[in-house]
Amino acid sequence: MRSIDVAILGATGVVGREMLRVLEQREVPVGRLKLLASPRSAGATLSFRGREHTVEAVTDEAFQGIDAALFSAGAGTSREWAPRAAARGAVVIDNSSAWRMDDAVPLVVPEVNPDAARERPRGIIANPNCSTIQLVVALAPLHRAARVRRIVVATYQAISGAGIEAVRALEAQQRALVAGEPAEPGPLSGQLAGNLLMHWKRDTASGYQEEELKMVHETRKILGDAEIRVSPTAVRVPVLNAHSEAVTVELARPMTATEARTLLTGAPGVELVDDFANGVYPQPLAASGRDPVYVGRIREDVGNPGGLQLWVVADNLRKGAALNAVQIAELVFAS
Ligand SMILES: NC(=O)c1ccc[n+]([C@@H]2O[C@H](COP(=O)([O-])OP(=O)(O)OC[C@H]3O[C@@H](n4cnc5c(N)ncnc54)[C@H](OP(=O)(O)O)[C@@H]3O)[C@@H](O)[C@H]2O)c1
Repeated sequence: MRSIDVAILGATGVVGREMLRVLEQREVPVGRLKLLASPRSAGATLSFRGREHTVEAVTDEAFQGIDAALFSAGAGTSREWAPRAAARGAVVIDNSSAWRMDDAVPLVVPEVNPDAARERPRGIIANPNCSTIQLVVALAPLHRAARVRRIVVATYQAISGAGIEAVRALEAQQRALVAGEPAEPGPLSGQLAGNLLMHWKRDTASGYQEEELKMVHETRKILGDAEIRVSPTAVRVPVLNAHSEAVTVELARPMTATEARTLLTGAPGVELVDDFANGVYPQPLAASGRDPVYVGRIREDVGNPGGLQLWVVADNLRKGAALNAVQIAELVFAS
């Protein structure tokens, strides 16, 4: 891979900081590095490869000469700044929901649809929603072999997916719970410590949450199959990091658990952790800080013969965000 000049917009956030770690760990040949955020964080410093870098407030000039602009600063910021960064010649790889369903913006998971990254008329590539990424990495090998027709998925999403302030709020709530004191909701919609929440934006017409509808539409776009039916439920759980998913899948032909295990063994980005008889299955604590999408509890669906059930766990900050974005940059600047 050639050396690339990189900007990170949202560098001070949980995903931005993870991007720095991933770039460092994967030894991506980064030339110039621009760390960008809002004026609130201008002047702060972040470490990369043993050197302190100063965070700047985002400006048009900051993107001049940049090859890859990795965005993780929210949808509103992306809508404003992605076209401006692209106009300066940067390839924008955006983590927000702003561009994912735009027909002129590819939605890319490198293990699943790498070729989509080639056509990017707006100069923008979208990184899918974290829950969608781990779902499609696990299901793509099954889809290729036997065409996925229907997915029923319940997510168990960690608080790190809601950003740095939400992580701090949960930690304070957990301390208050232990002390028997009243807990402040902070940026959360209520108490998450000792509880479950469904606090994403509601889609009043359908009764779903936007987080759930993202999984419906993004899964179809990435797998390139508009016929796939997805029935999602998204739940926030008091886990610090790594999302889990209970997935029920129906294919165009019956598939045994043995065949699914064979297809998933060595599949790109997948690691099987599937020895339930001995209590071995994917867990968020073990997945945290690691790259693979862990798949386990593969079993033939007792309620729908021919179908399958799986348990899928991945680090939402890494494969669900920072790692996937860096992998896209590696793909684009491979030669
Ligand atoms: N967390 C996840 O697992 C995950 C997964 C997939 C996608 N995403 C997406 O990634 C994005 C960032 O998420 P996060 O969890 O890292 O959030 P976060 O911890 O709250 O960080 C937000 C970052 O965006 C910057 N920012 C906010 N408003 C800005 C503005 N107007 N101009 C420039 N910079 C601005 C913040 O800078 P300041 O320090 O100056 O405030 C900070 O660096 C979101 O779009 C989120 O949906 C997150």
